[in-house]
Amino acid sequence: MKNITVIGSGTMGNGIAHTFAQHGFDVSLVDIDPGALDKAVQTITNNLDRQLKKGAIDPQLKTDTLNRIKTFTDLQQGAATADLVIEAATENRDIKLKLFKQLSDICDDDVILASNTSSISITQIAAVTKNPENVIGMHFMNPVPVMKLVEVIRGYATTDVVMQTVMQLAKTLEKDPVEVNDYPGFVANRILMPMINEAIYTLYEGVAGVEEIDTVMKLGMAHPMGPLQLADFIGLDVCLAILKVLYDGFGNQKYAPCPLLVNMVAAKHLGAKSGSGFYTYTPGSKELVVAAKFASKN
Ligand SMILES: NC(=O)c1ccc[n+]([C@@H]2O[C@H](COP(=O)([O-])OP(=O)(O)OC[C@H]3O[C@@H](n4cnc5c(N)ncnc54)[C@H](O)[C@@H]3O)[C@@H](O)[C@H]2O)c1
Repeated sequence: MKNITVIGSGTMGNGIAHTFAQHGFDVSLVDIDPGALDKAVQTITNNLDRQLKKGAIDPQLKTDTLNRIKTFTDLQQGAATADLVIEAATENRDIKLKLFKQLSDICDDDVILASNTSSISITQIAAVTKNPENVIGMHFMNPVPVMKLVEVIRGYATTDVVMQTVMQLAKTLEKDPVEVNDYPGFVANRILMPMINEAIYTLYEGVAGVEEIDTVMKLGMAHPMGPLQLADFIGLDVCLAILKVLYDGFGNQKYAPCPLLVNMVAAKHLGAKSGSGFYTYTPGSKELVVAAKFASKN
């Protein structure tokens, strides 16, 4: 396996492209938005510079990594020679189904088609392709170059050979893959999103303020960041989309998104990427939390 096509060059796509290229794969990065591709190459360059400064890579590896990444706005061109495709486009069922249908026509029959979806059914995605046995979930965590986990999701039709190939591939990237079955939210988001939703309910009901809730979880549960700040980093629209998948998939009221989350997304307060969520952010920077948006009611 040499040629990897990554579809979507946003938060996850640029990290996936970076990681594969750094490990010697040739990467075709595809996005419908040319501006997103430019931004992705800039982000990868900045992240490589950070690695270089820390002494984690040498200058040659930085150059080689960047040289291995080519960008495309045309799916046909970007995916034609792929040995493996990883789709990391916007978390929207219709977008993903359309993409996989197209990929199924563009790619050879034996090409593995993987999705980085956080919650959409791999089995449903596979069902629109000609070879559903070659479709699998490869759920990387953000930021991809740093986070060790890859949740590898076995769709209803995924074969053992495809599962083993992808597990091995993740190890080649120095990741720790974990195999899970295809049910709403898989494992990571089935557990994480109800916790985030409950933190938002705790705020909504006035039990405590943003910083108090996050502090309890950081200092009391040894979480590296609080659930509200994590929600801001994931994107509140992404959190809402995943909760809706859980709610629809299980038909259980316990996954109903908190009305405050629904309102914030409607108001386009999407977290760090929009500059405002539970905290406010310096535009363009995810790192600097300026101030908590909500004060404690007590
Ligand atoms: N953000 C996270 O923390 C996170 C973590 C794990 C998994 N995911 C999943 O990864 C995927 C991408 O999420 P993200 O946060 O990177 O989103 P994002 O909004 O940052 O980027 C999505 C990109 O996809 C592009 N796109 C949309 N339709 C396309 C198409 N038809 N063809 C090519 N490109 C297209 C958009 O232009 C955009 O650049 C989603 O499925 C999401 O659920 C996200």
